[in-house]
Amino acid sequence: MKYLFGNWKMYLDYNESINLSKQLAEVNLPSKNKIVVFPSNLAFKAVQENLASTQIATGPQNVAWVPKGGYTGEVSAHMFKDLGATYALIGHSERRHVFGETDDEVRKKVEACLDAGLIPVVCIGETKEELSEGKREYRLKKQIMKVFENLDLSGKEIIVAYEPVWAIGTGTPCLPADADDIHGWVKNELKQYTNQEIPVLYGASVNAENVLSFLSLSTIDGILAGGASVKFNDWQEIVKKAEEI
Ligand code: PGA
Repeated sequence: MKYLFGNWKMYLDYNESINLSKQLAEVNLPSKNKIVVFPSNLAFKAVQENLASTQIATGPQNVAWVPKGGYTGEVSAHMFKDLGATYALIGHSERRHVFGETDDEVRKKVEACLDAGLIPVVCIGETKEELSEGKREYRLKKQIMKVFENLDLSGKEIIVAYEPVWAIGTGTPCLPADADDIHGWVKNELKQYTNQEIPVLYGASVNAENVLSFLSLSTIDGILAGGASVKFNDWQEIVKKAEEI
């Protein structure tokens, strides 16, 4: 079983999100894999309802770290859980680099998800500068430590998505051999903090053509796709190809 996650980002408006979720529900491809889509908050409830009779689970792209209160513009993990969410993306590179989300905030959001009963999908990744300055492992080590140090999982699920920031949305992913190495390194790093098996997904420029080169690697437990997940045909191709693994 592999994880096939689709981050719809802010690519689709309300009607487009409804249409895509209806198309997915209509085709309802059976899969041995775990398929999850992350729609915008705007369309979350409607998408969740449209997919409720399928095996496709849903999650938000971000959550607030408190359950309720005077937090203008925020929506909490508990609130998404009430609407049927199962997962939540946390610390996506666009949250970190465009909106200035810090490692501390990411940690609080992870704890909020665990508290609310959502499975956090913690995104980690280095920038182009960090890569070229040889600081890739340093950056990943810090992001992992901030989330996992003294984190009380008590058997609760958590997922890590390795997303090299320099490859997101470029059409040119990390080379599979490079992804293989770094995933092995990440998995080893995670062992310092927990004996639980933590799935590690690859994200950044995954498409129907390259998906198998990642999914065929034993260090890669699944993929997180952005652009390819909002195009119905591309996503169906990804889901179909993943059946070959
Ligand atoms: P991409 O985005 O597949 O469009 O590169 C991946 C992501 O940001 O999660």
